[in-house]
Amino acid sequence: MKIAILSRNPKLYSTKRLVAAAQGRGHEVLVIDHLKCDLIIEAGQPAILYKGAVLKDIDAVIPRIGASVTFYGTAVVRQFEMMKVKSAVGSQAIVRSRDKLRCMQILSRAGLGMPKTAFTNYSKDSKKLVDQVGGSPCVIKLLEGTQGLGVVLAETDKAAESVIEAFHNLKARIIVQEFIAESKGADIRAFVVNGQVVGAMKRQGKEGEFRSNLHRGGSGMLIKLSAAEKAAALLAAKTLDLAVAGVDMLQSKRGPLILEVNSSPGLEGIEKATNLDIAGKIIAYTEKLPLKKKKPKTQASE
Ligand SMILES: Nc1ncnc2c1ncn2[C@@H]1O[C@H](COP(=O)(O)OP(=O)(O)OP(=O)(O)O)[C@@H](O)[C@H]1O
Ligand SMILES: [Mg+2]
Repeated sequence: MKIAILSRNPKLYSTKRLVAAAQGRGHEVLVIDHLKCDLIIEAGQPAILYKGAVLKDIDAVIPRIGASVTFYGTAVVRQFEMMKVKSAVGSQAIVRSRDKLRCMQILSRAGLGMPKTAFTNYSKDSKKLVDQVGGSPCVIKLLEGTQGLGVVLAETDKAAESVIEAFHNLKARIIVQEFIAESKGADIRAFVVNGQVVGAMKRQGKEGEFRSNLHRGGSGMLIKLSAAEKAAALLAAKTLDLAVAGVDMLQSKRGPLILEVNSSPGLEGIEKATNLDIAGKIIAYTEKLPLKKKKPKTQASE
């Protein structure tokens, strides 16, 4: 097969591993920088120019679209789809997964557990908002934050209210969330490929830190998921229509609580923690894509 990996940087661990896994399984691989693609839109003949030349004969693409380039990256994935090239993760599913609030709304409808969350546009009564999620301590998050930046633990109601007001004054969109103390600065990342959990790790924040992000000094270790955790991860990925997904959960007294579902989950942390060939699993799934029958059109459900 000829597989294209949409990635801005061939030197990234995840990109290198996908290339190696694809080559190891006998495929031809191209790394395409989606920002260097031009999309040619004309009746019946969608095409993509890459660095000036028409892209041809690609059997499948694996998108690795960074959060900062979602708009253009997903337009490129959509163009491949218009050209009847299969994508390991659909353009629409990536777009949806990038809106954290929308994801939580959809996942809550599916009955998945999550920390109680409130969102408002109106900052006059921040006390009510804090009360809604059970009072302090509570967590305040920038909707557009990643890597643990913009996630604040407010220990008291007063602190929470000040932080909410400060963010609102900056015109930043935030959510206020119930603080799950039992998770003790750890979260779980379940890596889902094609309806199976292919690896899972627990990330533990460094001493004195409630955020477990590896970028904030947390460390990842292999973990065996409970049946409930596995089921939650699979249902979350399925609900968001993501064939490849990193599902982040907190362990709590009332079972697993979903924090976030990532449509371009990094491979480095999970492969190092689990010693598993996750890239190989993604390629094995991609191999089956061109054989898949087109799904009958369904009504968009949201
Ligand atoms: N409600 C909560 N209760 C307890 N701990 C939390 C809560 N929300 C987040 N955390 C901790 O903070 C970390 C960072 O939060 P979160 O994953 O929501 O933001 P992020 O990592 O910045 O965003 P993203 O995952 O979208 O990149 C989590 O991994 C978790 O360890
Ligand atoms: Mg996170």
